[in-house]
Amino acid sequence: PRVLVLYGGRSSEHAVSCVTAAGVLGAIDTDRFDVLEVGITATGQWTRPVVDPRTHSFSGGQLPRVEASDSSLQLHSGPGGAADRQAELLEVHPDGSTTSLGQVDVVLPLLHGPFGEDGTLQGLLELSGLPYVGAGVLTSAVGMDKHFMKIAFAAAGLKVAPWVTITDRRWNLEGEQALAQAQETLSLPVFVKPARAGSSMGITRVTDWAQLRDAVETARKHDPKVLIEQGINGREIECGVLGTPGGGPARASLTGEVAVDDDASGHQFYDFEAKYTDAGAADLSCPADLPQEVSDEIRRQAVIAFDALDAEGISRVDFFYTTDGEILINEINTMPGFTPISMYPQMWKATGIDYPELITELITLALE
Ligand code: DAL
Ligand code: MG
Repeated sequence: PRVLVLYGGRSSEHAVSCVTAAGVLGAIDTDRFDVLEVGITATGQWTRPVVDPRTHSFSGGQLPRVEASDSSLQLHSGPGGAADRQAELLEVHPDGSTTSLGQVDVVLPLLHGPFGEDGTLQGLLELSGLPYVGAGVLTSAVGMDKHFMKIAFAAAGLKVAPWVTITDRRWNLEGEQALAQAQETLSLPVFVKPARAGSSMGITRVTDWAQLRDAVETARKHDPKVLIEQGINGREIECGVLGTPGGGPARASLTGEVAVDDDASGHQFYDFEAKYTDAGAADLSCPADLPQEVSDEIRRQAVIAFDALDAEGISRVDFFYTTDGEILINEINTMPGFTPISMYPQMWKATGIDYPELITELITLALE
Protein backbone atom coordinates (compact mmCIF):
# COMPACT_ATOMS: atom_id res chain seq x y z
CA PRO A 1 0.00 0.00 0.00
CA ARG A 2 0.92 3.64 -0.57
CA VAL A 3 1.42 5.43 2.75
CA LEU A 4 1.21 9.20 3.03
CA VAL A 5 3.45 10.30 5.89
CA LEU A 6 2.44 13.75 7.12
CA TYR A 7 4.64 15.77 9.46
CA GLY A 8 5.37 19.31 10.64
CA GLY A 9 2.12 21.20 10.99
CA ARG A 10 0.69 24.38 12.45
CA SER A 11 1.09 23.61 16.15
CA SER A 12 3.85 24.66 18.51
CA GLU A 13 5.00 21.03 18.39
CA HIS A 14 6.05 21.41 14.72
CA ALA A 15 9.70 20.62 15.46
CA VAL A 16 8.85 17.56 17.53
CA SER A 17 6.85 16.23 14.62
CA CYS A 18 9.77 16.82 12.22
CA VAL A 19 12.07 14.75 14.42
CA THR A 20 9.45 12.03 14.75
CA ALA A 21 9.23 11.95 10.93
CA ALA A 22 13.00 11.51 10.71
CA GLY A 23 12.78 8.45 12.91
CA VAL A 24 9.78 6.90 11.16
CA LEU A 25 11.01 7.52 7.60
CA GLY A 26 14.35 5.97 8.51
CA ALA A 27 12.73 2.82 9.90
CA ILE A 28 9.55 2.15 7.91
CA ASP A 29 9.56 -1.15 6.02
CA THR A 30 9.96 0.03 2.42
CA ASP A 31 9.59 -3.51 1.05
CA ARG A 32 6.08 -3.54 2.40
CA PHE A 33 5.06 0.11 2.08
CA ASP A 34 5.43 2.63 -0.70
CA VAL A 35 6.12 5.89 1.15
CA LEU A 36 5.09 9.36 0.08
CA GLU A 37 6.22 12.09 2.46
CA VAL A 38 4.50 15.45 2.76
CA GLY A 39 5.54 18.26 5.06
CA ILE A 40 3.08 20.79 6.44
CA THR A 41 4.53 24.23 7.09
CA ALA A 42 3.89 26.25 10.24
CA THR A 43 1.26 28.18 8.30
CA GLY A 44 -0.45 25.06 6.96
CA GLN A 45 0.88 24.67 3.43
CA TRP A 46 1.23 21.05 2.32
CA THR A 47 4.47 20.74 0.46
CA ARG A 48 7.00 18.33 -1.03
CA PRO A 49 9.96 18.37 1.33
CA VAL A 50 12.66 20.88 0.41
CA VAL A 51 14.89 19.46 3.15
CA ASP A 52 15.04 15.66 3.48
CA PRO A 53 12.94 14.97 6.59
CA ARG A 54 15.30 12.10 7.48
CA THR A 55 17.89 14.71 8.45
CA HIS A 56 15.69 16.49 11.00
CA SER A 57 17.06 16.41 14.55
CA PHE A 58 17.18 18.38 17.77
CA SER A 59 20.95 18.72 17.70
CA GLY A 60 22.75 21.47 15.85
CA GLY A 61 21.19 24.49 17.48
CA GLN A 62 18.20 25.31 15.30
CA LEU A 63 14.86 23.55 15.60
CA PRO A 64 13.91 21.71 12.40
CA ARG A 65 11.00 22.99 10.35
CA VAL A 66 9.23 22.41 7.06
CA GLU A 67 10.14 25.00 4.42
CA ALA A 68 7.45 26.48 2.20
CA SER A 69 7.62 25.97 -1.56
CA ASP A 70 6.04 27.49 -4.67
CA SER A 71 3.65 24.68 -5.33
CA SER A 72 1.35 23.18 -2.75
CA LEU A 73 -0.17 19.74 -2.41
CA GLN A 74 -3.73 18.65 -1.84
CA LEU A 75 -5.76 15.48 -1.63
CA HIS A 76 -8.29 14.94 -4.35
CA SER A 77 -11.06 12.34 -4.09
CA GLY A 78 -11.78 10.26 -7.16
CA PRO A 79 -15.10 9.93 -9.01
CA GLY A 80 -16.42 7.58 -6.31
CA GLY A 81 -15.77 10.22 -3.65
CA ALA A 82 -15.06 8.95 -0.15
CA ALA A 83 -16.40 5.51 -1.13
CA ASP A 84 -13.19 4.90 -3.10
CA ARG A 85 -11.21 4.82 0.17
CA GLN A 86 -8.34 6.20 -1.89
CA ALA A 87 -7.41 9.71 -2.89
CA GLU A 88 -5.00 11.26 -5.32
CA LEU A 89 -2.27 13.59 -4.15
CA LEU A 90 -2.10 16.58 -6.45
CA GLU A 91 0.66 19.12 -6.77
CA VAL A 92 -0.81 22.52 -7.60
CA HIS A 93 1.70 24.74 -9.39
CA PRO A 94 1.79 28.55 -9.11
CA ASP A 95 0.12 28.88 -12.55
CA GLY A 96 -2.78 26.70 -11.38
CA SER A 97 -1.82 23.59 -13.36
CA THR A 98 -1.65 20.32 -11.49
CA THR A 99 0.52 17.22 -11.50
CA SER A 100 -0.61 13.94 -9.98
CA LEU A 101 1.71 12.44 -7.39
CA GLY A 102 -0.34 9.25 -7.42
CA GLN A 103 -2.90 7.51 -5.29
CA VAL A 104 -2.77 7.30 -1.51
CA ASP A 105 -4.13 4.27 0.39
CA VAL A 106 -3.50 5.21 4.01
CA VAL A 107 -2.25 8.20 5.98
CA LEU A 108 0.23 8.20 8.84
CA PRO A 109 -0.34 11.60 10.47
CA LEU A 110 2.81 12.13 12.52
CA LEU A 111 1.45 15.41 13.79
CA HIS A 112 1.20 16.63 17.35
CA GLY A 113 -1.07 19.23 18.86
CA PRO A 114 -3.69 21.47 17.24
CA PHE A 115 -4.42 20.90 13.51
CA GLY A 116 -2.94 17.41 13.59
CA GLU A 117 -3.75 15.55 16.78
CA ASP A 118 -7.00 17.35 17.62
CA GLY A 119 -9.52 15.92 15.15
CA THR A 120 -9.30 18.66 12.51
CA LEU A 121 -6.97 16.73 10.21
CA GLN A 122 -8.88 13.54 11.03
CA GLY A 123 -12.06 15.28 9.78
CA LEU A 124 -10.36 16.14 6.50
CA LEU A 125 -9.27 12.54 6.05
CA GLU A 126 -12.77 11.26 6.90
CA LEU A 127 -14.19 13.53 4.20
CA SER A 128 -11.77 12.15 1.66
CA GLY A 129 -12.50 8.59 2.75
CA LEU A 130 -8.89 7.73 3.51
CA PRO A 131 -7.97 5.35 6.31
CA TYR A 132 -5.46 6.79 8.77
CA VAL A 133 -3.41 5.71 11.75
CA GLY A 134 -4.72 6.60 15.18
CA ALA A 135 -7.80 8.03 16.81
CA GLY A 136 -10.85 9.39 15.00
CA VAL A 137 -12.33 12.88 15.07
CA LEU A 138 -14.05 12.97 18.47
CA THR A 139 -11.40 11.00 20.34
CA SER A 140 -8.66 13.21 18.94
CA ALA A 141 -10.58 16.35 19.92
CA VAL A 142 -11.33 15.16 23.45
CA GLY A 143 -7.75 13.91 23.86
CA MET A 144 -6.45 17.34 22.89
CA ASP A 145 -8.64 19.26 25.31
CA LYS A 146 -7.50 18.73 28.89
CA HIS A 147 -10.85 19.95 30.29
CA PHE A 148 -13.04 17.48 28.39
CA MET A 149 -10.42 14.75 28.72
CA LYS A 150 -10.61 14.95 32.52
CA ILE A 151 -14.41 14.85 32.45
CA ALA A 152 -14.37 11.72 30.28
CA PHE A 153 -11.78 10.00 32.48
CA ALA A 154 -13.63 10.85 35.69
CA ALA A 155 -16.85 9.49 34.16
CA ALA A 156 -15.01 6.22 33.48
CA GLY A 157 -14.08 5.97 37.17
CA LEU A 158 -10.46 7.10 36.80
CA LYS A 159 -8.99 9.50 39.30
CA VAL A 160 -7.90 12.93 38.03
CA ALA A 161 -6.22 15.84 39.80
CA PRO A 162 -8.68 18.62 40.82
CA TRP A 163 -8.73 21.58 38.46
CA VAL A 164 -10.39 24.85 37.50
CA THR A 165 -11.04 25.72 33.84
CA ILE A 166 -10.99 29.31 32.63
CA THR A 167 -12.48 29.73 29.19
CA ASP A 168 -11.82 32.90 27.23
CA ARG A 169 -15.32 34.20 27.99
CA ARG A 170 -14.94 33.51 31.70
CA TRP A 171 -11.57 35.26 31.79
CA ASN A 172 -13.11 38.33 30.19
CA LEU A 173 -16.31 38.34 32.23
CA GLU A 174 -15.13 37.20 35.65
CA GLY A 175 -11.38 36.62 35.63
CA GLU A 176 -11.05 37.72 39.27
CA GLN A 177 -13.62 35.19 40.47
CA ALA A 178 -11.93 32.45 38.47
CA LEU A 179 -8.57 33.19 40.09
CA ALA A 180 -10.23 33.32 43.53
CA GLN A 181 -11.97 30.01 42.89
CA ALA A 182 -8.62 28.38 42.09
CA GLN A 183 -7.10 29.73 45.29
CA GLU A 184 -10.04 28.49 47.36
CA THR A 185 -10.32 25.02 45.89
CA LEU A 186 -6.69 24.11 45.10
CA SER A 187 -3.48 24.23 47.06
CA LEU A 188 0.03 25.20 46.00
CA PRO A 189 1.83 24.25 43.91
CA VAL A 190 -0.55 24.37 40.94
CA PHE A 191 0.16 23.93 37.26
CA VAL A 192 -1.32 26.40 34.80
CA LYS A 193 -1.76 24.88 31.36
CA PRO A 194 -3.21 25.80 27.99
CA ALA A 195 -6.18 23.44 27.54
CA ARG A 196 -5.12 22.37 24.06
CA ALA A 197 -1.34 22.29 23.68
CA GLY A 198 1.31 19.63 24.01
CA SER A 199 4.94 19.06 24.91
CA SER A 200 4.42 21.22 28.02
CA MET A 201 4.22 24.41 25.93
CA GLY A 202 2.96 27.39 27.90
CA ILE A 203 2.86 25.56 31.23
CA THR A 204 3.91 27.25 34.47
CA ARG A 205 4.39 25.66 37.85
CA VAL A 206 3.02 28.20 40.34
CA THR A 207 4.37 28.15 43.88
CA ASP A 208 3.06 31.55 45.00
CA TRP A 209 -0.49 32.78 44.31
CA ALA A 210 0.98 36.14 43.30
CA GLN A 211 2.29 34.40 40.13
CA LEU A 212 -1.10 33.00 39.16
CA ARG A 213 -2.36 35.81 36.93
CA ASP A 214 0.87 35.97 34.90
CA ALA A 215 0.83 32.20 34.55
CA VAL A 216 -2.71 32.36 33.14
CA GLU A 217 -1.64 35.07 30.69
CA THR A 218 1.32 32.91 29.60
CA ALA A 219 -0.91 29.91 28.99
CA ARG A 220 -3.42 32.10 27.11
CA LYS A 221 -0.73 32.87 24.53
CA HIS A 222 -1.07 29.22 23.46
CA ASP A 223 -4.78 28.80 24.00
CA PRO A 224 -7.51 31.18 25.24
CA LYS A 225 -8.80 28.27 27.31
CA VAL A 226 -6.68 27.54 30.37
CA LEU A 227 -6.63 24.97 33.18
CA ILE A 228 -5.34 25.54 36.68
CA GLU A 229 -4.54 22.13 38.02
CA GLN A 230 -3.59 20.79 41.44
CA GLY A 231 0.12 19.89 41.54
CA ILE A 232 0.62 16.25 42.46
CA ASN A 233 3.42 15.00 44.63
CA GLY A 234 4.60 11.82 43.01
CA ARG A 235 6.28 10.02 40.15
CA GLU A 236 5.33 10.36 36.48
CA ILE A 237 4.57 6.94 35.00
CA GLU A 238 3.52 6.37 31.38
CA CYS A 239 2.01 3.43 29.53
CA GLY A 240 1.71 2.77 25.80
CA VAL A 241 -1.52 1.40 24.39
CA LEU A 242 -1.66 -0.32 21.00
CA GLY A 243 -4.68 -1.60 19.12
CA THR A 244 -5.02 -5.29 18.33
CA PRO A 245 -5.61 -6.71 14.85
CA GLY A 246 -9.09 -8.09 14.40
CA GLY A 247 -10.58 -5.73 16.97
CA GLY A 248 -9.35 -7.60 20.07
CA PRO A 249 -8.76 -5.84 23.40
CA ALA A 250 -6.14 -3.08 23.23
CA ARG A 251 -2.67 -3.99 24.48
CA ALA A 252 -0.81 -2.15 27.23
CA SER A 253 2.99 -1.92 27.17
CA LEU A 254 5.26 -2.19 30.16
CA THR A 255 5.31 1.11 32.01
CA GLY A 256 7.99 3.77 31.77
CA GLU A 257 9.03 6.51 34.14
CA VAL A 258 10.03 10.08 33.47
CA ALA A 259 12.38 11.42 36.09
CA VAL A 260 13.36 15.07 36.05
CA ASP A 261 16.49 15.75 37.98
CA ASP A 262 15.73 19.30 39.07
CA ASP A 263 18.93 19.76 41.04
CA ALA A 264 21.07 19.18 38.00
CA SER A 265 19.02 20.97 35.38
CA GLY A 266 16.96 23.65 37.06
CA HIS A 267 13.85 22.15 35.47
CA GLN A 268 11.10 21.66 37.99
CA PHE A 269 8.96 19.51 35.82
CA TYR A 270 9.19 17.70 32.52
CA ASP A 271 8.98 20.88 30.43
CA PHE A 272 9.72 21.40 26.75
CA GLU A 273 13.40 22.10 27.36
CA ALA A 274 13.86 19.02 29.48
CA LYS A 275 11.93 16.96 26.96
CA TYR A 276 13.79 17.89 23.85
CA THR A 277 16.63 20.33 24.09
CA ASP A 278 18.55 19.75 27.26
CA ALA A 279 20.09 16.34 26.94
CA GLY A 280 20.11 14.50 30.20
CA ALA A 281 17.72 16.76 32.08
CA ALA A 282 14.97 14.21 31.81
CA ASP A 283 15.64 10.57 32.37
CA LEU A 284 13.37 7.97 30.80
CA SER A 285 13.47 4.55 32.35
CA CYS A 286 11.65 1.54 31.11
CA PRO A 287 10.35 -0.66 32.57
CA ALA A 288 9.57 1.63 35.50
CA ASP A 289 10.80 0.39 38.84
CA LEU A 290 7.42 -0.28 40.46
CA PRO A 291 5.84 -3.05 42.52
CA GLN A 292 4.23 -5.57 40.15
CA GLU A 293 0.69 -4.84 41.35
CA VAL A 294 1.12 -1.09 40.82
CA SER A 295 2.46 -1.55 37.31
CA ASP A 296 -0.37 -4.02 36.53
CA GLU A 297 -2.94 -1.54 37.82
CA ILE A 298 -1.50 1.33 35.75
CA ARG A 299 -1.57 -0.86 32.64
CA ARG A 300 -5.17 -1.81 33.37
CA GLN A 301 -6.14 1.84 33.80
CA ALA A 302 -4.31 2.82 30.60
CA VAL A 303 -6.58 0.48 28.64
CA ILE A 304 -9.64 1.83 30.49
CA ALA A 305 -8.59 5.35 29.48
CA PHE A 306 -8.06 4.27 25.85
CA ASP A 307 -11.50 2.64 25.79
CA ALA A 308 -13.17 5.53 27.67
CA LEU A 309 -12.25 7.83 24.79
CA ASP A 310 -12.84 5.15 22.16
CA ALA A 311 -9.25 5.57 20.96
CA GLU A 312 -7.80 3.59 18.07
CA GLY A 313 -4.38 2.27 17.13
CA ILE A 314 -2.04 4.27 19.32
CA SER A 315 -2.03 6.30 22.54
CA ARG A 316 0.31 7.02 25.40
CA VAL A 317 -1.41 7.41 28.75
CA ASP A 318 0.38 9.38 31.45
CA PHE A 319 -0.17 8.88 35.18
CA PHE A 320 1.02 10.13 38.55
CA TYR A 321 1.88 7.56 41.19
CA THR A 322 1.68 9.64 44.34
CA THR A 323 3.83 9.43 47.42
CA ASP A 324 0.66 8.18 49.17
CA GLY A 325 0.43 5.26 46.76
CA GLU A 326 -2.46 6.64 44.71
CA ILE A 327 -2.71 6.40 40.93
CA LEU A 328 -4.03 9.49 39.14
CA ILE A 329 -4.39 9.85 35.39
CA ASN A 330 -2.73 12.94 33.96
CA GLU A 331 -3.52 12.73 30.26
CA ILE A 332 -3.74 10.74 27.05
CA ASN A 333 -1.73 11.57 23.93
CA THR A 334 -3.38 10.17 20.83
CA MET A 335 -0.25 10.80 18.75
CA PRO A 336 2.61 10.61 21.23
CA GLY A 337 6.19 11.60 20.47
CA PHE A 338 7.47 8.83 18.22
CA THR A 339 11.18 9.28 17.65
CA PRO A 340 13.11 6.03 18.22
CA ILE A 341 14.14 7.29 21.68
CA SER A 342 10.70 8.60 22.65
CA MET A 343 8.89 6.93 25.49
CA TYR A 344 6.16 5.23 23.43
CA PRO A 345 8.52 3.26 21.15
CA GLN A 346 10.84 2.58 24.09
CA MET A 347 8.02 1.07 26.12
CA TRP A 348 6.99 -1.19 23.24
CA LYS A 349 10.58 -2.22 22.64
CA ALA A 350 10.80 -3.31 26.28
CA THR A 351 7.53 -5.19 25.76
CA GLY A 352 8.84 -7.02 22.69
CA ILE A 353 7.80 -4.94 19.66
CA ASP A 354 10.65 -3.03 18.08
CA TYR A 355 10.36 0.31 16.26
CA PRO A 356 10.01 -0.87 12.62
CA GLU A 357 7.53 -3.56 13.66
CA LEU A 358 5.52 -1.00 15.65
CA ILE A 359 5.22 1.21 12.55
CA THR A 360 4.10 -1.78 10.47
CA GLU A 361 1.50 -2.76 13.09
CA LEU A 362 0.06 0.74 13.23
CA ILE A 363 -0.33 1.05 9.47
CA THR A 364 -1.75 -2.46 9.22
CA LEU A 365 -4.33 -1.65 11.92
CA ALA A 366 -5.39 1.49 10.03
CA LEU A 367 -5.95 -0.56 6.85
CA GLU A 368 -8.21 -3.13 8.58
N1 DAL B 1 2.86 15.79 22.79
C1 DAL B 1 4.11 15.06 22.75
C2 DAL B 1 4.59 14.87 21.39
C3 DAL B 1 3.98 13.76 23.46
O1 DAL B 1 3.00 13.56 24.10
O2 DAL B 1 4.87 12.93 23.36
MG1 MG C 1 -0.05 16.02 25.49
